Amino acid sequence: MKKIQHVLSTSQFNRADLEKLFARADRMEKLHRSKKPSKILAGKIMSALFYEPSTRTRLSFETAMLKLGGQVISTENAAQFSSAIKGESIEDSIRIIGQYADVIVFRHPKIGSAALAANVATVPIINAGDGAGEHPTQAILDMYTIKKELHKIDGLTIGMVGDIKYSRVIRSLIKFVGLYKNIKLNFASPKELTMTDEDRAFLHEKNIPFSEYHELDGFLADVDILYVTRVQKERFESQAEYERLKSAFVITPQILTRMKKKSIVMHALPRVTEISPEVDSDPRAAYFRQAQNGLYIRMALLKELLV
Ligand code: NCD
Repeated sequence: MKKIQHVLSTSQFNRADLEKLFARADRMEKLHRSKKPSKILAGKIMSALFYEPSTRTRLSFETAMLKLGGQVISTENAAQFSSAIKGESIEDSIRIIGQYADVIVFRHPKIGSAALAANVATVPIINAGDGAGEHPTQAILDMYTIKKELHKIDGLTIGMVGDIKYSRVIRSLIKFVGLYKNIKLNFASPKELTMTDEDRAFLHEKNIPFSEYHELDGFLADVDILYVTRVQKERFESQAEYERLKSAFVITPQILTRMKKKSIVMHALPRVTEISPEVDSDPRAAYFRQAQNGLYIRMALLKELLV
């Protein structure tokens, strides 16, 4: 793997990079389960600078750093509790935090903000979500989850459901699809939340076959992975519009009966109403295992950036 400087977009990674990270994540899982203290990142400091809410992403990054013997400085509500409220620019905050920390994990509501941060950063920036832009570390852990659960990635059919327009998770994940062979994509969303023209153009350009639906009926029997997304409330201008669309698709045990026995349901979480809790006990419900994989992938990435 070429030494990575910043992690801004999934388009930076090739298949060999991913395979290497997956193998390292397997080793990180062993290390985690052994409960042995590690000194791999001793003396290193990670700053988690989050201007948008997060549970899994921030806490798994912090846990990853601590597990590897590093330390963490964190501001989980940077929009209110950092100097941003006094009017400090992203660039100035990044310049300063780069003097304290060896890596900055950054989440911000504005598309392109992570790239802006990287322009002035003297330490690696990890994009932990730039608005409706990208969420590359989520996409890496998603591919890792697919590999772990289904033992292959080539040739699979992925059904993506929900908010295809605003989901940064989906936007990042589709960029990986072209690295693998014969993956088919099916999207199901309300008409108001179909994919952007830019994403559609990207899939055409890479010759990735895909179909767009406004209901689930057409493709459930074929999918190997049903990737469900939350309708992204925070991206809506109208609350009423969000309320109208938020439960357009709800995955229930009844829906799972129409899926293959050997298939999985994924979700980056948090879920609101889009997967009913009764689905959780189905062995195909992979979303909690997926969240756990986030820890191993983030341990692997931090090692890659800092050692
Ligand atoms: C996702 C995100 O923040 O984009 N969550 C996450 O990182 N686990 C998905 C979401 O919030 O819907």
